[in-house]
Amino acid sequence: MVLARLAWLAGLVSTAIAATPAEWRSQSIYFMLTDRFARTDGSTTAACDTADRKYCGGTWQGIIDKLDYIQGMGFTAIWITPVTGQLSGETAYGDPYHGYWQQDIYSLDSNYGTADDLKALAAALHKRDMYLMVDVVANHMGYNGAGADVDYTKFNPFNDAKYFHSYCPITDYNDDTMSQNCWLGDNKVSLPDLNTQSKEVQDLWYDWVGSLVSNYSIDGLRVDTVKHVQKDFWPGYNKAAGVYCVGEILDGDPDYTCPYQEVMDGVLNYPIYYPLLKAFQSSSGSMTDLYNMINTVKSTCKDSTLLGNFLENHDNPRFAHATDDIALAKNAATFTIMADGIPIVYAGQEQHYSGGEDPANREALWLSGYNTDSELYKLIAKANGARNQAIAKSTNYTIYQNHPIYKDESAIAMRKGFVGGQTITVLTNLGAGGKEYSVSIPDTGFKAGAKLTEVVSCTSVTVGDSGEVSVPMASGAPRILLPTSLLEGSALCSS
Ligand code: NOJ
Repeated sequence: MVLARLAWLAGLVSTAIAATPAEWRSQSIYFMLTDRFARTDGSTTAACDTADRKYCGGTWQGIIDKLDYIQGMGFTAIWITPVTGQLSGETAYGDPYHGYWQQDIYSLDSNYGTADDLKALAAALHKRDMYLMVDVVANHMGYNGAGADVDYTKFNPFNDAKYFHSYCPITDYNDDTMSQNCWLGDNKVSLPDLNTQSKEVQDLWYDWVGSLVSNYSIDGLRVDTVKHVQKDFWPGYNKAAGVYCVGEILDGDPDYTCPYQEVMDGVLNYPIYYPLLKAFQSSSGSMTDLYNMINTVKSTCKDSTLLGNFLENHDNPRFAHATDDIALAKNAATFTIMADGIPIVYAGQEQHYSGGEDPANREALWLSGYNTDSELYKLIAKANGARNQAIAKSTNYTIYQNHPIYKDESAIAMRKGFVGGQTITVLTNLGAGGKEYSVSIPDTGFKAGAKLTEVVSCTSVTVGDSGEVSVPMASGAPRILLPTSLLEGSALCSS
């Protein structure tokens, strides 16, 4: 009896990690399309032509087998694409290998494995103290055919027209009423738009999301197409989920996107994404626009420390599609890791993949051979390592709101962390050919004589008489400074 209870408790320890917004603040997320990350057979050669838009064979078991690769970069969580049962048969746009065309919300996409495999993935993550975030779609179902001509009996449970808005295509994405009540998709693949104003639909979704989270021990949700559902649907959904939810609002205007944080824990940081891209895509990018947007997001969003920061995802061309300069990619990635919010790195970013628009940006990761020696793999490991160390050693690090403290034509510096435990991040868009020089950063908040370590180059730096820090720059590489005392117990710069 006692033994049985102990076993049950031990089970709890390995699976149940309550993942509140506060707990997610200190995570760092690796995002993958399940179909494109790792196969059960561990193949690094299985063909995957993104242009075909076919399932390529990635599975949940494949992910389990590659958790060392992910954790080796310092990530503490993964986000996987939707798990629900999808439409069957090939559409004019290929297979639903991405997971956004669901038909049966009570079943799982068997291409990725079984319910036990998904549970095993959660358990394997939890054993490593890592979190599982799953993508969910409440706005629509998926249908192989024209919008006006849907066979609703294909859907479970929404098997009748009564659960849906009447058909109308979205023709103006700036019109909120239309975006919320009309249908995404087109005449080839239609995305029947659920009537989320109906109490019946709401109840079904709220029940479903709570069960999904508990059945599979999920720690957080990435919520798809949030701006396509009326705002008052979301608080109930977020509450029923009972875990941190981060919503996709594909809009770079902070005045539009930030208010969604009133109805959901966090939002993907599209407002920062665009100026971030511009700042680092070329050596003439504007540091001023990025500097200003850091402050704007902080004052416009309810809590900048709960946003999801990214440089790449499956809906936008990869960073390296615009420039193959590795130093620029390093700086932009470092920004997403060291700024406020939860870093999100999209699988393949660490291998400097360069795919353009969807579907080209959905390359199979296994074709890289999971190279842990790649420049960006190592840089991401450094930046995550620095952040993880600051979180562990600097009190309330994650809730201190990052602020920009310096800019010039080609560099920006920002500070995060309370006095004595702050990190200073210096980024440049000079690129790989960048000169060797020192940039003097004033107002770091450190005392004169304080000892810092720059962890990318593992260089020691002493704070100057007025609190300024002279940071050695070379080859356009990013710089991350931590008080040397904070590095105790870390392998970051121990050779
Ligand atoms: C946003 C997702 O990220 C994208 O890939 C998907 O096609 C649309 N939402 C529709 O679900």
